[in-house]
Amino acid sequence: MRLKHCHNTEQFRLLAKKRLPGPIFNYIDGAADDEVTYRRNTAAYEDCDLVPNVLAGVESIDMSTTVMGMKLDLPLFLSPTALQRLFHHEGEFAVARAAEKYGTMFGISSLGTVSIEAIGEAISTPKMFQLYYHKDKGLTRSMIDRCKDADFDAIALTVDTIVGGNRERDLVTGFTSPPRLTPKSLLSFALRPGWALNYLLRDKFELPQLQHYVDEGTNIKLSISDYFSSMLDQSMDWRAAEEVASHWGKHFCLKGVMSVEDARHAVDIGATAIMVSNHGGRQLDGSRAPFDQLAEIVDAVGDRIDIICDGGIRRGTHVLKALSLGAKACSGGRWYLYALAAAGQAGVEKALENMKTEIERDMKLMGAREVADLGRANLRFR
Ligand SMILES: Cc1cc2nc3c(=O)[nH]c(=O)nc-3n(C[C@H](O)[C@H](O)[C@H](O)COP(=O)(O)O)c2cc1C
Repeated sequence: MRLKHCHNTEQFRLLAKKRLPGPIFNYIDGAADDEVTYRRNTAAYEDCDLVPNVLAGVESIDMSTTVMGMKLDLPLFLSPTALQRLFHHEGEFAVARAAEKYGTMFGISSLGTVSIEAIGEAISTPKMFQLYYHKDKGLTRSMIDRCKDADFDAIALTVDTIVGGNRERDLVTGFTSPPRLTPKSLLSFALRPGWALNYLLRDKFELPQLQHYVDEGTNIKLSISDYFSSMLDQSMDWRAAEEVASHWGKHFCLKGVMSVEDARHAVDIGATAIMVSNHGGRQLDGSRAPFDQLAEIVDAVGDRIDIICDGGIRRGTHVLKALSLGAKACSGGRWYLYALAAAGQAGVEKALENMKTEIERDMKLMGAREVADLGRANLRFR
């Protein structure tokens, strides 16, 4: 299978599986406990149907939306994800440049493998930084200050990783950051020599947002779940989030809000957006899917804050369904990570092209000339 044959997320997934050593593929593909929430995140979209309008004169379609004051050419953006240079040597640059080409936003993780500064210099379109609130307050502050200097547009504070999720696939494979070289993992690397050569011969693996503060994840091997449990501050509360927001002073988003009560609280502390998200099912298995929870949150605070539906997106129609319920935009990780692993920047561009084509075609079929034309009347639950 080749890149040009990847017409949908599942085909990218299969190509990623062929290219990546098992532990790394399973780190992307896996989730918490029995992965019930992970499966529901996508299945939730299948519980309702689109009701199209016709004869709407749809020769030209405007797919743009405005999130946190930023105009995005597509109502879908690329959620922040960790360790991207492990998936493909082009890493965050590939993701950022592809997003720039398609005029949409991307997020850089606190556990990113390219620095805030390098991305700030390379990219002129909307940039989000994802903040993990560390026990080391100097580190947390330094990341916010570096985002200010690099002229990032928004910070998303992740609030659903107060401890690490139980990612059992990682327990089985022994996945750590950086990858641990055991006889078993060495074998999986040897079976993927293309990946192994790139990993060994290209720029050394590092986590530049953490440099000078912590060795864990770079010089000390650790699973990502253990990283959350040992390095992040479990005393983080609303006051802490408010302090981050005011220290940052620009657009501020809470990533991982699921309850109406918390969504209201987000408005109270001056957040300009929330990502309704369960971290792609990687944290609390058994928690509700973002799409299932969306309407409640839109009804409560949709007129006061931008609501992003994060996770489970595999098709353009999923985006249309979330927009119909009142989300301002959708975001996701795996839909572009499989493509990154499959073919670097060219892969992410192809994934974006596929989604753009689907969203445009589906909007035309729905009789929607712009995102605002989509509403609850376009959706029926079975
Ligand atoms: C491999 C991987 C790494 C991730 N790393 C981060 C991260 O560093 N910070 C964060 O807030 N979310 C992270 N996420 C969660 C994503 O931002 C997003 O919420 C999730 O992928 C949405 O689910 P989806 O993959 O079904 O789209 C990660 C997700 C994946 C799959």
